[in-house]
Amino acid sequence: MNTIIIGLQWGDEGKGKIVDYLTESSDVIIRGQGGNNAGHTVIAKGTKYVLHLLPSGILWDNKINVIGNGVVIDPVGLVQEIQKIEAQGISITPDKLIISDRAHVVLPVHKELDAAREAALGDQKIGTTRRGIGPAYADKINRCGLRISDLLDREFTEQQITRRVTEANEVLARYNLTIFKADEVIAEVYSAFERLRPHIANTIPELHSAWKAGKTLLFEGAQGTLLDIDFGTYPFVTSSNTTAGGSCTGSGLPPTAIQSVIGVCKAYTTRVGSGPFPTCDEGLSEYLHGLGREFGATTGRPRGCGWLDTVLLRFACMVNGVTGLAVTNVDGLDEYETLQICTGYDIDGTVHQLPPADRKAWDRAKPVYESLPGWKSDTTDCTKYEQLPAQAKAYLSRLSELCGAPIAFVGVGPDRAQTLVV
Ligand code: GDP
Ligand code: IMO
Ligand code: MG
Repeated sequence: MNTIIIGLQWGDEGKGKIVDYLTESSDVIIRGQGGNNAGHTVIAKGTKYVLHLLPSGILWDNKINVIGNGVVIDPVGLVQEIQKIEAQGISITPDKLIISDRAHVVLPVHKELDAAREAALGDQKIGTTRRGIGPAYADKINRCGLRISDLLDREFTEQQITRRVTEANEVLARYNLTIFKADEVIAEVYSAFERLRPHIANTIPELHSAWKAGKTLLFEGAQGTLLDIDFGTYPFVTSSNTTAGGSCTGSGLPPTAIQSVIGVCKAYTTRVGSGPFPTCDEGLSEYLHGLGREFGATTGRPRGCGWLDTVLLRFACMVNGVTGLAVTNVDGLDEYETLQICTGYDIDGTVHQLPPADRKAWDRAKPVYESLPGWKSDTTDCTKYEQLPAQAKAYLSRLSELCGAPIAFVGVGPDRAQTLVV
């Protein structure tokens, strides 16, 4: 069975952990969108790994990991990440990691342009990860981007980088940001590219061969549904389709290759960066930060925390066609007396079951809550779903009922082993 793993909230749901867990029974793991704005934490046998561009299947031997055409790749960042993971004892060889020749390149100037755009927005800033994601995807859509295959033609690439740097410098000068020298950018990009060159391939026929040979494919989503460029809280979103369809457009594999969609959500809600967050709760944020939880893996920023929001989850289950839910961080609520679940948004006196499109309506959305008793006990040692306290099972069953999708996995701790199969 071929499966998509997708985030149902605003990212950081624990996708990396679920992908790592399911890699054991998969053959090929594929990233189809986003870039190193993603930060996927996996804890395996006591060691913590943080992955940004590398698929979370990379920690296993004898698995093929693919960075698909829909991803935007910062070559310098990717090489640094490879070096870090290799220093942790994981070898990254061309038979284990394949990079699409159609993927677009994030240049150092894109990162600085990301910062310039944020500066221009002032208090309306998106709160991006400053990894150059928006500007790189903008160039792609604007049909002036540079692709990995272009790097194979050095003369052409040098012309393109020189043109892009000149254009970017005009913008950067206005914000007193770093001005780039084209020859330095070219040297930096090519120094990284040499490490990546053996991994580059036309991934589309390779993926189709694997599919036709009956290999098990696992698609790793980055970010989450509410950060999707179409379905998210626009404009406070990322610049790619983070939802299930992005797995197809980002890999060249068709929808008919996929049988299941596992939607990952936390047992509560978190968000990092700006934008609407109706169930945000200061008390819960303070509580979880006090436990040392909910600090971003990419930027270290504290994530805002709030109650479980089933308006978002219902919508996310719809647009992704979720066949099973993976609810992580259930243990985060272990000590709480009373838990709230948001079942609808009250906007100007009318209760809505689905999120609004209108950006101003988001600001007026008041969550409608129902309360459930907490379980007030430690779930981290549970090894089977049946061992969970009755109140935890009741909470999960209500979540499932409100979203219209069955629970497939439950996370009771960050370690690979703390994953319960339902
Ligand atoms: P991703 O971006 O969706 O892969 O999620 P992140 O890795 O950015 O954030 C999820 C955080 O929760 C990480 O620190 C994980 O180690 C951690 N995590 C994942 N599942 C669980 C769980 O069930 N319990 C606990 N305590 N932590 C978890
Ligand atoms: P993973 O894969 C959480 C957020 C940023 C910002 C917005 C736009 O780890 O779940 P960008 O740099 O993409 O232009 O920023 O999206 N964001 C994430 N938040 N998890 C992520 O990835 C994110 N990737 C981007 O904080 O609000
Ligand atoms: Mg993350």
